[in-house]
Amino acid sequence: MTSSFLQTKKRGWGSRWSFVAATTGAAIGLGNVWKFSYLAGENGGSAFLLAYIACVFLVALPVMIAEVVLGCRGRANPVATIHNVAIEAVASPWWKLIAWLGMLAALLILSYYSVIAGWSLAYIEKLFTGEFDAASVQIAGESFSQFLSSPWQLIKWQSVFLALILLMSMSGARIGIAMMARIALPLLLLSLSALAVYGFKMGDGPAAIEFLFVPDFTQLTANSLLIALGHAFFSLSIGVGAMLVFGSYSPDGRSVSGMLSIVVLLDLLVSLLAGLAIFPLVFALKMAPAMGPGLMFIAMPYGFGNMEYGSYFGALFFLMVSVAAVTSGVALLEPTVNWLSERFGWWRAASAALLVFLVWVLGLLTALSFNIWADVSWQGLSLFQLLDFVTANLLLPIGGLLIAVFVGWKLRREVLRDEFYIEHPYLFLLWYRLLRYISAPAVLLILVSSLYLSFY
Ligand code: PFF
Repeated sequence: MTSSFLQTKKRGWGSRWSFVAATTGAAIGLGNVWKFSYLAGENGGSAFLLAYIACVFLVALPVMIAEVVLGCRGRANPVATIHNVAIEAVASPWWKLIAWLGMLAALLILSYYSVIAGWSLAYIEKLFTGEFDAASVQIAGESFSQFLSSPWQLIKWQSVFLALILLMSMSGARIGIAMMARIALPLLLLSLSALAVYGFKMGDGPAAIEFLFVPDFTQLTANSLLIALGHAFFSLSIGVGAMLVFGSYSPDGRSVSGMLSIVVLLDLLVSLLAGLAIFPLVFALKMAPAMGPGLMFIAMPYGFGNMEYGSYFGALFFLMVSVAAVTSGVALLEPTVNWLSERFGWWRAASAALLVFLVWVLGLLTALSFNIWADVSWQGLSLFQLLDFVTANLLLPIGGLLIAVFVGWKLRREVLRDEFYIEHPYLFLLWYRLLRYISAPAVLLILVSSLYLSFY
C-alpha cells in the first residue's frame, strides 16, 4: 500500500530532493556553526564529538525517522496527526501532549535563536564595511563585547531576523525553505571549506586536529553526554514537531530512512567543517576553546579580517549562516503556524504574525540577558543559558523519548511497515529495534542520570 488511509490533505513536496533540501535547510543552521563549535570547545573537543556522533546515529536518527513517519501517517497538523494516529493505534489521545510540548519548545528556542541569528546579520554589515580589517584578536573581542552591551543593537537585529522569518513564513514556508536551502547550503559548504583551508594555512591545524579527533575520555561526564544528546536533537531539529510537519508534506513512495540519512550526513559535515575552520584559529590565537557562545563571533571575524578580500568573504560567510538560520527559524515556526491555521481556520499570515510577535517579546529576555539583566541568574545560569538548558537539555530529549515510546511501543508493527514499505525488511527491523531497545532507553538513562548528578 502506498498511502496511509489517514490521509487528510495533499502532499506538499512533489520530489524527494525538495524534501531533502527543505529538511536539510531546517537542520543546518546556527546549531552547526555557532553552537557546535562552542559546545565542543566547552566539553573537551574529541570526546564530545564522539559522544555526539554516537548520539546522532544510535539515538537521534531513529527518532528522526519515527517523527517523519508519524507525519507521513497522520498527514495533518502536529496535534491532529498524533491524535489520529493514536486513535488508529487504540492508544490514549493524550499522546498529543508530544505535539504541545514540541510547539512550546519550538517557540522558546526561536526566542533565543532569533537573538543569536541577529548577531549573525549584524556581522554581515560589520565585515562588509571593513570593521575587522587587520584587526587583532583583542579588537575583535572588544567589538563583540561592545555589541553585546547595547540592548538596542541586539533588539534591532533580532527584529530584522524575525521580520525575515515572518515574510518567508507568510509566503508559504514549504517552497521557500526548499528553494533557499538549495542555494545557500552549497555556498555555506564552500565558504566553510575555504575557511578551513585558510585556518590550516594560517592557524594551528595540528592542535585543532588533536583537539577534535584524539579522544580524551576523562573529559566526558554524564552532563556532557546529556549536552551531546540534546545537541543531536537540536541540530537535527527533532522533538519540536518540525519533522512531523515535514513528514506530513513529504512525497509518497520514497525511502524515508534513505532521505534522512542524507540529511544527517550533510548536517554532520557542516558541523565538522565549522570545527575545522574555527579551532585552528582559536589555538593559533591562544584563545580559550571553552570561552562560550562568543567563540565564532571573535575567531571568525579575526580570521577574515586578516585574509585577502576577507571582508567580502566574511560578509558572504555571515550571510550564508544567516540564510541557514532563516530556514531553520521558519521550520521552528511552522508546526504552530500549521496548527493554528488548520485547527482554527486562521490565515497563515495572521497565525505567523501573532507567533512572531510573541517570540519577539520572549526574545527580549535573551537580548537583555547579555547586558542590563546580565546579573539575573538561577543556579548560576543567565536567562539565555536557562532557556537553552530547558529546551535543548530537557524539552527536546523528553519530546524525543515520547516519540520513541509512542512509535516504537504503541503503534502496530504492520502500520509502521506500511510506511516503510520501500525499505528492505532488514533495514526496517534495524530501525525498529534501534528505536525500541537503544534510542528510548538511552535517552531515559542519560536524562535521568545527568539530572540526578546535577541536583544531588
Ligand atoms: N537545527 C537548527 C540548527 O542547528 O540551527 C535549529 C532548529 C531548527 C531546531 C528547527 C529545531 C527546529 F525545529
